[in-house]
Amino acid sequence: MSDIQAIERQILDAIASATDEAALEAVRVSVLGKKGSISELLKSLGGMTPDERKVNGPLFNGLRDRAAAAIAARKTVLEEEALNARLAFERVDITLPARPEPSGSVHPVSQALDEVTAIFADLGFAVAEGPDVEFDDYNFTRLNIPPDHPARQMHDTFYVAKQADGSRHVLRTHTSPVQVRTMLKQKPPIRIISPGRTYRVDSDATHSPMFHQFEGLVIDEVTHLGHLKWVLEEFCKAFFEVDKVEMRARPSFFPFTEPSVEWDLRCDRSGGQIKFGAGNDWLELAGSGMVHPRVLEMCGIDSTKYQGYAFGGGIDRLAMLKYGIPDIRSFFESDLRWLRHYGFAALDLPTLDGGLSR
Ligand code: DAH
Repeated sequence: MSDIQAIERQILDAIASATDEAALEAVRVSVLGKKGSISELLKSLGGMTPDERKVNGPLFNGLRDRAAAAIAARKTVLEEEALNARLAFERVDITLPARPEPSGSVHPVSQALDEVTAIFADLGFAVAEGPDVEFDDYNFTRLNIPPDHPARQMHDTFYVAKQADGSRHVLRTHTSPVQVRTMLKQKPPIRIISPGRTYRVDSDATHSPMFHQFEGLVIDEVTHLGHLKWVLEEFCKAFFEVDKVEMRARPSFFPFTEPSVEWDLRCDRSGGQIKFGAGNDWLELAGSGMVHPRVLEMCGIDSTKYQGYAFGGGIDRLAMLKYGIPDIRSFFESDLRWLRHYGFAALDLPTLDGGLSR
C-alpha cells in the first residue's frame, strides 16, 4: 500500500470514529486546517519538480476532496443523531399544568353570568350594558312606571342624593333600564342580552341587597310569545345541561309588558339534588311579556310597526341551583375558603363548543 493510501485509510478511520460534532471538527482541523496533514501535503507540492507535481498534485487533491466529502457526510449523520437524541430527551408532558399556575378563581356568580351571556350570544343576542347608577326616568318612568305608580313600591329602591336640578338617580332595581337605553340609541331589529348588577333594600337567606339579573329584549316587525318560549327553553337546556325541560307559563303583571307572563321550570328536588324535566316542583325562572306599546313609544319606536318581547330573571338563584349553593349571602362574604371551594378555574371561559362549567 502506498503512503498516500495509508494516510487516506487513517483519515477515513478517524472521521468514521468521531462520535460527535466536536470530535469531527477536531479531525477536520487536523486534516484540512491550516496546519492539517493534507494541507501540509498540498504545500509540499511547491517544493517538487514539475514531474513530481504532475504525479502528486492529482493524488493530493483527490485525497483532499475525498476527505472533505467524508467529513461532510459524517457531519450530516452526526447532526441527525444529535437532533434525534434531543427530540427523545426534550419531551414535553402536555398533561402537566401550565406554570406558573394561575392563582385565584372565578366567582360562581361571574361564572353563571358568563354562561348566560355565552348561551344567548349563541342564540344571536348581542350583549348590552348599562350603569349601576341609573336615571329614575330609565329605571321607572319610561318603563311605564310613572312617579307615584304603586309598582314603584314593589322595588325597594336605593335612592342616590338629589342632583342640582332636583332629579334623582337610583341604584337600578332591575336590568330592564338597559331595554330603554338600547331602544333610545338603536333602530330595530333589536336583539340584546344584558346581564348585570341590580340593587334593592332587601336581605335574607334568598335576597341580597346587591344581586344580579339578566335581561333580554327582542324588537322586530313580527315577534310573539312563541319565540320567547322557545328562546327560554333553549336557554334552560343549555344552562342546566339537560336534553329536555318543561316550562309553565303563569299570567302576571309588569307595567312594561302586556301581556305579562312568568315562567317556571319543572324540576324534582327530592333526594337532595335538583333534576329538570321531571318531578312535581316548579322553579321560578323569569318574568317576561310583550313589550308594552307605551314603552316602545316612550323609547322612540313606532309601536304600529314594531313589537317585541322582553324577559328578565335572577342570575344568583340560577347559580345557587346549578352549583348547589344554599345561602345567597355566602356569595358576597368574601370568604377565601368558600371561594376556593366554589370558584372556577380562571382560564376556563365558558363556551358552547368548549363546555360551560368544567
Ligand atoms: N324587571 C323585572 C323584575 O326585576 C323582571 C322582568 C319582567 C323583566 C318582565 C322583563 C320582563 O324584561 O319583560 O322583576
